[in-house]
Amino acid sequence: MEQLLQQIEALKTEIAAFNDGDAEIFRIKYLGTKGQVKAIMGEMKNVAAENKKEAGQLLNEFKLFAEAKYETLKTASGNGQQTTTNEFDLSLPADSLPLGSRHPISIVKNKIISIFQRLGFAVAEGPEIEDDFHNFTALNLPENHPARDMQDTFYISQNPDWLLRTHTSSVQVREMQKGKLPIRIICPGRVYRNETISARAHCFFHQVEGLYIAENVSFADLKQTLYFFVQEMFGKDVKVRFRPSYFPFTEPSAEMDISCLICGGEGCSVCKKTGWVEILGCGMVHPNVLDNCGIDSNKYTGFAFGMGIERITMLKYQIKDLRLFSENDVRFLKQFTSAV
Ligand code: DAH
Repeated sequence: MEQLLQQIEALKTEIAAFNDGDAEIFRIKYLGTKGQVKAIMGEMKNVAAENKKEAGQLLNEFKLFAEAKYETLKTASGNGQQTTTNEFDLSLPADSLPLGSRHPISIVKNKIISIFQRLGFAVAEGPEIEDDFHNFTALNLPENHPARDMQDTFYISQNPDWLLRTHTSSVQVREMQKGKLPIRIICPGRVYRNETISARAHCFFHQVEGLYIAENVSFADLKQTLYFFVQEMFGKDVKVRFRPSYFPFTEPSAEMDISCLICGGEGCSVCKKTGWVEILGCGMVHPNVLDNCGIDSNKYTGFAFGMGIERITMLKYQIKDLRLFSENDVRFLKQFTSAV
């Protein structure tokens, strides 16, 4: 009994001195199921029978004392749910929300558009699900033409005539069919190919194609336009060269290379030791294409070109794997700023 009295006194002093201010800490320490009040109540069983009544009273009083202290602490700290007010500094700035940034493909696409807009090209867009005529036939790629193999794609099962466009040249066809001349457009957009995905190929990618049709347009106009583009995009020191090539929709056709940006033309692994990297296909619009789209090929001539935005972006930022563009890994994406 003596010992119990001492314990109660000691705890009372401790409780009275408790000024941590946190009601919840107090509740757990003293009033909770493993708290000290509960523990001391358990001492009743060790009290001799003749003292039980007195001990019971003392313990009850002690319990009420502890509960009263708890109530005081609760009121002092608001409603008892919250902790002390001084834990919140309302003058601090809020946590910042991470701001996204433009995808590198968008950054480069916008840059390409702005360069050509300065030359008077307007942006034209068209559907990603195309019909055979706009994607192939009108572009001098009749059914069963072997050149269709270069651009295998995905077909829509409800209608064998529908497919996912393989290039944005289909938008050129749509613009030519409108019959408003001259035409000076660029066509940015997403295109699809039935390719095995690797570091250098994907089943979808982005293109910008261009088309200029008027009277007396020549290959010299094409060269000068693309030369201007390269200088604006990659800098004044970059050289260009044209190599003869084949596209069914242009005649003559060419591929344009620029001097390698990595080694400056000396020869490295990116340019496969040639000092040059290919960036686009181009040529003079084939008279059959003009006729297919209702334009008089005796009166009008034009040039066209097409480039992959991924390719330009990879050269610009020295990115080695095409798959990075569609994996959405923020560690990759946050490295790009709009300043190209
Ligand atoms: N459509 C071609 C392709 O996707 C690129 C191209 C080449 C477009 C020459 C053109 C062009 O307009 O004249 O491979």
